[in-house]
Amino acid sequence: MKIAVAALGYVGLSLSTLLAQRDEVVGYDIDPGRVAQLNQRTSPLSDPQIIDFLAHRDLDLRFTTDPADAYAEAEFVIVATPTDYDADTNGFNTETVRGVIADVVRINPAATIVIKSTVPVGFSDQMVQEFGLSSDRLVFSPEFLREGKALYDNLQPSRIIIGGEGPGARAFGELLRQASLDRDVAVLHTTRTEAEAIKLFSNTYLAMRVAYFNELDTFASTHGLDVRAVVDGVGLDPRIGSHYNNPSFGYGGYCLPKDSKQLLASYADIPQHLVRATVESNATRMDFIAAEVIARAPRRVGIHRLVMKAGSDNYRESSVLGVIDRLRRHGIELLIHEPLLEQDHFDQIPVTSNLDELLACDLILANRVDPALEPVAEKVYTRDLFGTV
Ligand SMILES: NC(=O)c1ccc[n+]([C@@H]2O[C@H](COP(=O)([O-])OP(=O)(O)OC[C@H]3O[C@@H](n4cnc5c(N)ncnc54)[C@H](O)[C@@H]3O)[C@@H](O)[C@H]2O)c1
Repeated sequence: MKIAVAALGYVGLSLSTLLAQRDEVVGYDIDPGRVAQLNQRTSPLSDPQIIDFLAHRDLDLRFTTDPADAYAEAEFVIVATPTDYDADTNGFNTETVRGVIADVVRINPAATIVIKSTVPVGFSDQMVQEFGLSSDRLVFSPEFLREGKALYDNLQPSRIIIGGEGPGARAFGELLRQASLDRDVAVLHTTRTEAEAIKLFSNTYLAMRVAYFNELDTFASTHGLDVRAVVDGVGLDPRIGSHYNNPSFGYGGYCLPKDSKQLLASYADIPQHLVRATVESNATRMDFIAAEVIARAPRRVGIHRLVMKAGSDNYRESSVLGVIDRLRRHGIELLIHEPLLEQDHFDQIPVTSNLDELLACDLILANRVDPALEPVAEKVYTRDLFGTV
């Protein structure tokens, strides 16, 4: 069976490598450089499993910049294009998803379209109407992977959610289950709209949990309490648990900020407080962190890493960037140390690849601790208690 995957980012590339173990997969992307690199079996993402699968596994997998080449005769077309949040419209920009659906309708009207991109609640049903699709032709299946562990998470999924009805939806759920290393993984069939809600409510819960422990940290540290003791004591209740509780400068990354904002927008006139509080709490947290740094009156602040955590290969919507903005507005001199950056300035802030230059700053900001900072531990400002995510 042929499967096409539109867009080869974290979601599209991990699904391509996952499914190409058993079926023919053709990945499509608008970026010719990325497609050429992938056809050489080199990963553009730093993801250990994807790198290993591309280099060593027997995969029925090729990549193209031609949508017709990808979609023709495919039984499934998986849509994994970006859906960035647009502050002007107060919602996701879903144009890339719409564009793929239009192409599939034109090129291969028999294919079942599976949307893996995160979309607003109600979007998939709207597409069925807009394109006059028969309902069983469109499936929404939320993606829950973590960046850096994208293929790992698809091999060991927390759950498989299939939104939609008909043989195509059932067959796609079975494809994901068969590709999983855990054949007993929970597979939940819902409507498309319920599946869209599951995605946004999952990510908003995660954002809320991060925000909660960050506000705990703000409170406990302001009162001079041992934050670790409080976090440990709270987490000993098994209903709360000692996981995903490590304070940080704020939640960030591509998904949590945009998905919580989209959910807030989707509430529209429906009463709520928590979702708005979750969104607003993140800005308050970055204000707090910046104020803590400013109160120490540093002459020059070194920023150790723009990424949210070690091993990450990007700093999209990183909370460190929010703190940098605030410090800069306050006129504080900054120096960035981020090995991912090749240029000597980032947003007009000097960048150094020399660790000693970073360590010479009077205060070093690190969202996550790093053994490289140990020699100057007394100068490091972090909220990281556990050295984990
Ligand atoms: N990154 C995550 O952790 C994650 C997790 C779950 C869900 N999602 C969702 O999945 C979607 C994709 O996210 P991602 O992080 O994989 O994206 P990404 O930013 O890693 O990759 C985007 C890719 O899409 C390509 N692209 C852009 N426009 C295109 C178009 N019109 N046609 C074909 N290719 C196009 C780009 O060249 C790039 O290769 C988003 O909706 C996101 O919210 C992401």
